Amino acid sequence: MNLLESSIEFVKNKLAGVDPGHDWSHTERVLKLARHIQQSEQKGDLEIIELAVVFHDIADSKFHDGDEDKGGNIAFNFLAEEGYPPEKAASIRDIINNMSFRHGFEIKDEQSIEFQIVQDADRLDAMGAIGIARAFSYGGFKQREMYNPDIPPEDYADTEAYRRSTAPTLNHFYEKLFRLTDLMNTETGRSIAKDRHNYMLAFVDRFKDEWEGKL
Ligand code: ADP
Ligand code: NI
Repeated sequence: MNLLESSIEFVKNKLAGVDPGHDWSHTERVLKLARHIQQSEQKGDLEIIELAVVFHDIADSKFHDGDEDKGGNIAFNFLAEEGYPPEKAASIRDIINNMSFRHGFEIKDEQSIEFQIVQDADRLDAMGAIGIARAFSYGGFKQREMYNPDIPPEDYADTEAYRRSTAPTLNHFYEKLFRLTDLMNTETGRSIAKDRHNYMLAFVDRFKDEWEGKL
């Protein structure tokens, strides 16, 4: 087994039984997207990108007491034990620790191209048909209403306000998902995002029509 394969084994075991929004299939889809972006852009170190993707959701902070650095450290320790060079393991740790949406609210310093590609790939899996499914899956897990026309979407001042929100799932489209296209780092990511964005817009329009009883 090479390093990528043993990392995949390790992470698959760790992710067994987690919610369907963050299970291994999410990581597999992000891996495909990230490889596609890397190939199309012809930028970034593929090995770093692949390993960062494999470990990126290993300890999602929403489910681990908000300790945002834990995932990167798990990855670093595993890779170091496998004999991977510490500088490279450290760059993977940094990608993972900077990935969370909490940091997405803050203005970030210029990030490495590897970070940018992994982030685009992860964000793309929150869009389109899969993104819609993940949003309602998350909303169900949190026992949120699907939609409530009396509760308008909000512009959260900071991450804590966003985390405290118990707003209906449809608000999440305005509060986060429709913003992702403009946040894409790469041209390849942006072009896939536009397509997925339009699909979500059509979905939300139709959802509201059906909600109001249009036939
Ligand atoms: P990431 O994609 O960076 O792991 P999150 O962990 O915040 O982002 O979200 C994981 C999935 O859950 C995404 O598909 C996201 O859209 C969805 N999600 C997160 N927060 C909400 C929410 N308040 N309502 C509906 N879906 C959500
Ligand atoms: Ni993810």
